[in-house]
Amino acid sequence: MTRPPSLRTALIALTGAGLFTAAACGETEGPAANSASAGAAAETAANAGEEQAADWRFTLAPLPYAYDALEPVIDAETMEIHHGRHHQAYVNGLNGALEARPDLQGVALEDILAQVSGLPAAFRNHGGGHWNHDFFWNSMTAPGTGGEPSEALAGAIDEAFGSLDAMKEAFNRAGGGQFGSGWAWLIVNEAGALQVTATPNQDNPLMDVAGVRGTPILGNDVWEHAYYLNYRNRRGDYLAAWWDVVDWSAASERYSAAVEN
Ligand SMILES: [Fe+2]
Repeated sequence: MTRPPSLRTALIALTGAGLFTAAACGETEGPAANSASAGAAAETAANAGEEQAADWRFTLAPLPYAYDALEPVIDAETMEIHHGRHHQAYVNGLNGALEARPDLQGVALEDILAQVSGLPAAFRNHGGGHWNHDFFWNSMTAPGTGGEPSEALAGAIDEAFGSLDAMKEAFNRAGGGQFGSGWAWLIVNEAGALQVTATPNQDNPLMDVAGVRGTPILGNDVWEHAYYLNYRNRRGDYLAAWWDVVDWSAASERYSAAVEN
């Protein structure tokens, strides 16, 4: 979405101040709310005396659906906090790390992640956090609307795991077995085959520090902030329920792109 410079600057000022809200997201609000938030944002920017943000800065994209779109699998409050607070913090942290590294400003995030072993830890933690959450939001859709894996992806899943259910079991085991915080992944590995893996913290399979590298097809966030309000400590229940919101169209497109490269 293209915004006028003043509003874009204002939104960045708001998010930088940790004030990102549903209204500032815009796309989940009605026209009146958008207009009101635009006015408030412009005023905040003027007060803050912000300059036009540099093009290299990463920004938090609005969710591709409403906060309550994934209910009852993931509740609206969890989505709002997860996106507006946790993800925003990763974006802010990544931009902060880039302030000190002009040589990396404007470099694609995937290229930064591929060399993260030689960079300050903030790039691994916040760069991974930003990439992972963008990927996560775009891996999900409203319950019952996610369709099925494409013929090509379904065939590759059968070849690698025996069946879709067996792949889900392996994925849930990886997520359930990840000690502490982290992610479960379905990837196309460096040999071109599907594989399930898990990473700690905000690591991902694009990083040169990952034990198993590859191209992510699906990823599930198993940090407690992703599920604790609804599921408490029952990570296994969250992992099992999550399949109801998986967007198989997105996964299938990623698979096709990965095997064509
Ligand atoms: Fe998260």
